[in-house]
Amino acid sequence: MAATAGTRKLNAHAVRADFPIFEQKIHGKPLAFLDSAASSQKPRQMLEAMTTFYETSYANVHRGVYVLAERATAGLEGAREKVRALINAPDAREIIFVRNATEAINLVAYSWGMNNLGPGDLVIVSELEHHSNFVPWQYVAGKTGARVAMLPLTDDGELDLSALDGLAKDGNVKVVATNHVSNSIGTINPIEKLAAWAHEQGAIFVCDGAQSAPHLAIDVQALGVDFFAISGHKLCGPSGIGALWGRGDLLQAMEPFLTGGHMISSVRLEKTTWGELPHKFEAGTAPMAEAVGLGAAIDYLQDVGFDAIAQHEHELAAYALGRLSEVPGITLYGPPADRRAGIVSFNLDGIHPHDVAQILDMQGVAIRAGHHCCQPLMHKLGVAATNRASFYLYTVQEEIDQLADGLYTVQKVFA
Ligand code: ALA
Repeated sequence: MAATAGTRKLNAHAVRADFPIFEQKIHGKPLAFLDSAASSQKPRQMLEAMTTFYETSYANVHRGVYVLAERATAGLEGAREKVRALINAPDAREIIFVRNATEAINLVAYSWGMNNLGPGDLVIVSELEHHSNFVPWQYVAGKTGARVAMLPLTDDGELDLSALDGLAKDGNVKVVATNHVSNSIGTINPIEKLAAWAHEQGAIFVCDGAQSAPHLAIDVQALGVDFFAISGHKLCGPSGIGALWGRGDLLQAMEPFLTGGHMISSVRLEKTTWGELPHKFEAGTAPMAEAVGLGAAIDYLQDVGFDAIAQHEHELAAYALGRLSEVPGITLYGPPADRRAGIVSFNLDGIHPHDVAQILDMQGVAIRAGHHCCQPLMHKLGVAATNRASFYLYTVQEEIDQLADGLYTVQKVFA
């Protein structure tokens, strides 16, 4: 590995050499990939782990007694242990493999919410939520007669915790669900405080970690959350796999989400009983090659070091905010650099974000333009969409310069 294991400072140019995607030019320009919040690029080490698994160890898991089935099962269960260690969960049986963080949150909303929510109950989400941590709650609340309320933002784009007690007057707070890091504006939320408040109300706290687990060292026990959702594709793993961690006693008491093969204990015409954790929540054939890839991605990131990754992204965010604030007619959204992750959202006066992104693409710069699956947040900001640049361990300052220079070109085109 070309990364800087064991050292404090991350060498992004060396890390970048592990990512084959950067070996190409886009429209004849170096690729400035500034859309890692949407999905991350993949290191060779992860790709090779999946290829080796397919070439040497592939079979269905948990079912066979032959060598390949045993190797495949060891691959899947080894990856489960790596996810456990990544977030310091107490027990690997509490790690459920799902497709992505969205599915993880849907699992909790349905399996916990359908049996525990009712009229008079309140689910509190925040104005910062991705639709994946709002729409499932809205849907299940609609089915059960519960209500959903939104914790508002301050003008800096941070959660206004002083509004919590007021919201609690409107019902029995049963669920508080927020993201750890905002995918749109990069705010890092005070999860320990939110979880402690939720518990004072007798509520569970559900944390969407899709944008934090790839970038920060996570300890679900120290955060005090009850459920934590991650997506593998955002942390250098393959698409199609994510994980839910849930407190063992809660998972034990919950109904399954998907039913069918593998998740049962016994099946008769009259009655089916459920398997043990984690299998009760893992119906059907597992994403075993994806799990092996996710495990390899976790190894890769831990080798670089999450403290080094967080520090690197923090420096990039400060640099980007500085460079972009020099562009005339720019509006930057979100908190100051010291309170945000490597995500910068902005608009240029009079130029639609889709036009900005298209002209940047001609210069090799990939950013996301749109509502970022956060329409309530866009509404709060008073815009339909923003441009968003997001960074990761392989992002180098030159890419941010390419973005800033590109914005001047965009303005010339539209002058
Ligand atoms: N949730 C992803 C994003 O923020 C797709 O772009």
